[in-house]
Amino acid sequence: MTVNDPAVFAEHLVKRFGERRVVDGIDLIVPRGAIYGVLGPNGAGKTTTLRTLLGIIEPDEGRRSILGHFSPREASDRVGYLPEERGLYPSMKARDAIAFMGALRGLDRRTGRTRAAEMMEAAGLGHAIDEKIKKLSKGMAQLVQLLGSVVHRPDLLVLDEPFSGLDPVNQEKLEALILAERDRGATVLFSTHIMAHAERVCDRLAIIAGGKRRFEGTVDEARGTLPSRVRYLPARPQAGVAEVLPHDATPDGDGWRFQLPREGIEGLLVTLIERGYGIGGLSIERPGLHDAFVRIVGRDAAEGEPA
Ligand SMILES: Nc1ncnc2c1ncn2[C@@H]1O[C@H](COP(=O)(O)OP(=O)(O)O)[C@@H](O)[C@H]1O
Ligand SMILES: [Mg+2]
Repeated sequence: MTVNDPAVFAEHLVKRFGERRVVDGIDLIVPRGAIYGVLGPNGAGKTTTLRTLLGIIEPDEGRRSILGHFSPREASDRVGYLPEERGLYPSMKARDAIAFMGALRGLDRRTGRTRAAEMMEAAGLGHAIDEKIKKLSKGMAQLVQLLGSVVHRPDLLVLDEPFSGLDPVNQEKLEALILAERDRGATVLFSTHIMAHAERVCDRLAIIAGGKRRFEGTVDEARGTLPSRVRYLPARPQAGVAEVLPHDATPDGDGWRFQLPREGIEGLLVTLIERGYGIGGLSIERPGLHDAFVRIVGRDAAEGEPA
């Protein structure tokens, strides 16, 4: 493999637990330098997919490569990983915990401790550098663990539900950290069932449900799977306007709502003006990633298994 190969490549990954194909033929290409989201409801198979990619569990079928290695463990020192179940030694001080995680990936302790202090300062956690893990709030401990997963400056960072368990302030810090890691040159692969974060930070994403990939593309492409909605307000209320509007138009207050016609809105606006209805107000709303997600996985699936 060459440097131009994707950071992560997976072809027809299958993982069975008993009779169940929890990962059911997943294909994945994560370009180098991308922030890539694996989205799906609870129970979709995200964690199992990530664990299989990292070589923590072996796939039953298919193949995958990480940073050009078909045996993921060979890339281990160049990978950072935040597992879904968090955990640090409670009696370690924060900076030592970060340095310890770095040491597990081949970073010398001295450098680890220096970087740990710098990174904690930069993340606004400077006051907690010498605090024991057990004294930290759950969210702060999670950020410390996150810093521990990047202290060795990995080329690939894999984060499993990193936003879960963080308050909005710390979620923002995490978004900033993900962007900073990408700007440093790392590839970031993370899972989430919360669309808002993915919508803001992802370059590309895959949506999975029931162990299968249902969508792959950019955030814009995902949103584009649903038509935009038009809200139109006539200049003067007149009953006959419905005849001119698309068939799906439904009344909404003094105005109407309908899907943006495939051919665009210009022709319709001309007709509305010619017929004397005028334009009292007009807005076009693009669907959000959440709407696209619900449409792609289905409303029932979007609710997911109980967490
Ligand atoms: N070790 C396991 N043994 C049996 N079933 C498992 C195991 N790990 C996960 N599962 C099941 O596989 C499905 C997918 O789990 P998971 O990959 O954790 O999904 P997600 O991370 O998308 O919530 C779930 O139904 C879960 O209960
Ligand atoms: Mg999971």
